[in-house]
Amino acid sequence: MSLILAIDQGTTSTRAIAFEVAPQAAPSAVGEEKGDLRPVAVSQIELAQHFPKSGWVEHDAAEIWAATLQTCREVVRKAGGVARFNAIGITNQRETAVIWDAATGEPLHRAIVWQDRRTADVTARLTALGHEPRVQSATGLILDPYFSATKFAWLLDAVPGSRERAAKGEVKLGTIDAWLIWKLTGGRVHATDATNASRTSLMELKTVEWRDDLCALFDIPREALPGIVPCAGVIGESDPALFGQPLPIAGSAGDQQAALVGHGALQAGDAKITYGTGAFLVANVGAEPVASTRRLLGTLGYQAGGQTAYALEGSIFSAGSAIQWLRDGVGLISESRQSEAMAQTLRDNGGVYMVPGFTGLGAPWWEPEARGTIVGLTRDSGPAHFVRAALEALAYQTRDLLDALAADGAPPLKTLKVDGGVTANSFAMQFVADICEVEVERPAFQEMTALGAARLAALGVGLLPDLEARPAEAPACWKPRMKAHERERLLSGWRRAVKAAIIAAS
Ligand code: G3P
Repeated sequence: MSLILAIDQGTTSTRAIAFEVAPQAAPSAVGEEKGDLRPVAVSQIELAQHFPKSGWVEHDAAEIWAATLQTCREVVRKAGGVARFNAIGITNQRETAVIWDAATGEPLHRAIVWQDRRTADVTARLTALGHEPRVQSATGLILDPYFSATKFAWLLDAVPGSRERAAKGEVKLGTIDAWLIWKLTGGRVHATDATNASRTSLMELKTVEWRDDLCALFDIPREALPGIVPCAGVIGESDPALFGQPLPIAGSAGDQQAALVGHGALQAGDAKITYGTGAFLVANVGAEPVASTRRLLGTLGYQAGGQTAYALEGSIFSAGSAIQWLRDGVGLISESRQSEAMAQTLRDNGGVYMVPGFTGLGAPWWEPEARGTIVGLTRDSGPAHFVRAALEALAYQTRDLLDALAADGAPPLKTLKVDGGVTANSFAMQFVADICEVEVERPAFQEMTALGAARLAALGVGLLPDLEARPAEAPACWKPRMKAHERERLLSGWRRAVKAAIIAAS
């Protein structure tokens, strides 16, 4: 039996999952049987979040590495020992910036998390100086503190002498994938996969190479950056001391791109949205990058098996985190799953809308200074209105992204593939189908991110012939059933609420 060790290093937790590569998925029997990768063991550790100032979010990179090692070792043990494994696949929270000392392998500062807004003044200044068109046409990305470049520069400013040391190769920079590859290989390989690199604002989308002019613009010594590698193929071998014998690291992709692969959204026109802390719509646009006119992000879908697929992405910063806030921040629910029944106690939203701009608004608005806003409260409004408004916001935000996608000329979606914790909420999924006028499809197996990483690694060592999804079970589906006038009424209420959130921020 062949096993893949998938590492899913997310914003709130670190997970390792062992996947068995089903014999029928092997090259000799392509497509004859259903089922490709089956999970056989899992281990998960929560990750501490640090909020040192308003709008700042940090992670401890040493804690991330320790949790990665611990979860991997546990899964290897549960699955019967390292000898049964053929490869490691990595997927990770993207954009989060790590700085470390090449000699000691120790972080030099806490990692700056993708949600962190501390460099908003830098991107505003660069925008005012007229740099955005050049950055956008080269990288597909707009100027926003979300991306890694300004975070890397902030770290180099914050750690005395690090910029000079970085230029000499003594200090390394990277996103979480690069950090894990460095640690897994015992400091022998400094590499990042093409999808993660496409989120830094330093990589040219078309050529998949770092751009010297962008490194200069953001003041990042190129010597500190990892080499860019494809998502499938052997990147390096793990240090034998870690698991008892070396394993090839043979797949790597940012978590949203890994989920695209997990869903098998491999053709132009296929799209998925993952509802996690944030929500990320990724639409495959084919072999050439598409420049968005609606402030969607041009990004890499995947680079594997000699093929490069590009994507347009809409990033929503707060999705599941709005439900978490209702649970942990204001205590309106004690468990997230209560939200479904609570929302359904109401006939409608009563005119209450929540714009969950807790860490600014992402696509298509890009308002880093916006904050969470609730509008339409009356003396009748109660806890259920807050809960319903948070769930409805998932659908309205998704609709905004799909409208932007359509305006960018993307083909209409046949179905919207969904995954992530919130998709267990049937009320929310039906509401997404209704508001977006699209059939929503949730696979039976939910771990699309880890599955994508495992599939890339299995391809990378030749255990799978391609990236095709061969799910063993049928998906759950929600079809649109809302009347058009009702949808329009709700959407106009939402648009008014977004305006209020943006005005409040200015
Ligand atoms: O771009 C940020 C994204 O990759 C984070 O995903 O699932 O860790 O919240 P997640």
